[in-house]
Amino acid sequence: MKAIIFGVTGQDGSYLSELLLEKGYKVVGVNRRASTNNTCRLEHLLDNKDFSLIEGDVTDFINVSSIINDQQPDEVYNLAAQSHVATSFNEPVHTWRVDAEGPLNILESVRRYSFNAKFYQASTSEMFGKSVDQDGYQRETTQFEPQSPYAIAKLAAHHKVRIYREAYGMYACSGILFNHESERRGEKFVSRKITKWVAEFKNWLNDENKPFDAQIDQDNIISVMHPDRTFPKLRLGNLDAARDWGYAPDYVKAMWVMLQQEQAEDYVIATGTSRTVRDFIRIAFDFIGIKEWENLVVVDPEFYRPAEVEFLHGDYNKAKAEIGWSPETSFNEMVKRMVEHDINNSKKCQQNTTLT
Ligand code: NAP
Ligand code: GDD
Repeated sequence: MKAIIFGVTGQDGSYLSELLLEKGYKVVGVNRRASTNNTCRLEHLLDNKDFSLIEGDVTDFINVSSIINDQQPDEVYNLAAQSHVATSFNEPVHTWRVDAEGPLNILESVRRYSFNAKFYQASTSEMFGKSVDQDGYQRETTQFEPQSPYAIAKLAAHHKVRIYREAYGMYACSGILFNHESERRGEKFVSRKITKWVAEFKNWLNDENKPFDAQIDQDNIISVMHPDRTFPKLRLGNLDAARDWGYAPDYVKAMWVMLQQEQAEDYVIATGTSRTVRDFIRIAFDFIGIKEWENLVVVDPEFYRPAEVEFLHGDYNKAKAEIGWSPETSFNEMVKRMVEHDINNSKKCQQNTTLT
């Protein structure tokens, strides 16, 4: 079996590559040319004879269609996206090109040049936006009410997948995945921003060889004993937003299972539990033994969004019943792994060294 992964260099692309290689696939990853190394999540796979990379960009139809035509894959996973919701407000046109036109380029290429290939699209819980069913869950039948340029572009792609399935009979499906995080999560997403800060703070306290008895001054600086030894506070936006957070390696299994069915269908993939950003912070600090974290965090309007999705809470019962998928890793275990990883690997594989 041969699979093409668009978006191979991202969090999910790296885990999905590992999963497919374990299953004996030949994996062809498509990555964008970059002036700096963007394959740090894939370093451990680069010598695998069944894994290869080709340069490509989903916004370029000629490029995408050549790749599909040349490779004749059995399965195509489109994980490529401008995936940061806040960024999509500043870069709406770019986000549209990558997140809406990109999937169209792939779908049309598969239809023309590799019709029997099965296609997976990375849809998102962001498409629900403000909409929640009366019982407090979002599921496959919940109305979509997108709240960002990102969500609108993803919703356009979601409908295109359905149309290619219904109009042309292609095996094309979308996983409506709720938030999923990991040690490989991009550092601008709130989960990793928190775990990296907590880990760096812990390492800084250790370097200072002091227990946590820091002075916290008015200038948003934490200092230990000496005014020159300072550490900036963690600056975040909306702490009350609630997300249904799962663990990325569990979620890529769902992508693969969705392509192994008799018929293509869309599925919600979630944990069924919703927590606030505040909960995430509390649990991350708990792992380094800090209970009183409020004074270490600054709520900064810079990190608020022009429009927010306040509440996400997924019902994954259709996936459980029909394709046998359930989440395996608990929320606390996931946060623990992320904090521990960031304490031990603070200098490795940094996609972004600033905490934005
Ligand atoms: P990610 O880490 O941001 O990865 C996105 C990938 O897309 C990267 O490999 C990126 O390449 C690539 N990409 C961006 N623009 C591209 C272009 N023009 N052409 C080709 N590749 C391009 O995202 P993720 O967390 O792995 O998520 C994977 C997919 O699932 C995304 O589509 C995301 O929107 C969707 N999703 C994610 C979640 C979640 O919670 N993680 C939930 C629901 C849906 P570079 O390395 O070059 O930037
Ligand atoms: N990024 C970020 N940075 N978010 C913050 C911050 C901050 O400093 N402070 C508070 N938040 C809040 C955001 O306002 C949002 O409500 C929540 O934390 C989660 O933000 P992100 O981690 O950026 O994720 P997201 O929910 O917007 O989007 C992620 O999940 C979607 C699925 O629901 C991304 O992975 C999307 O690509 C994905 O589709």
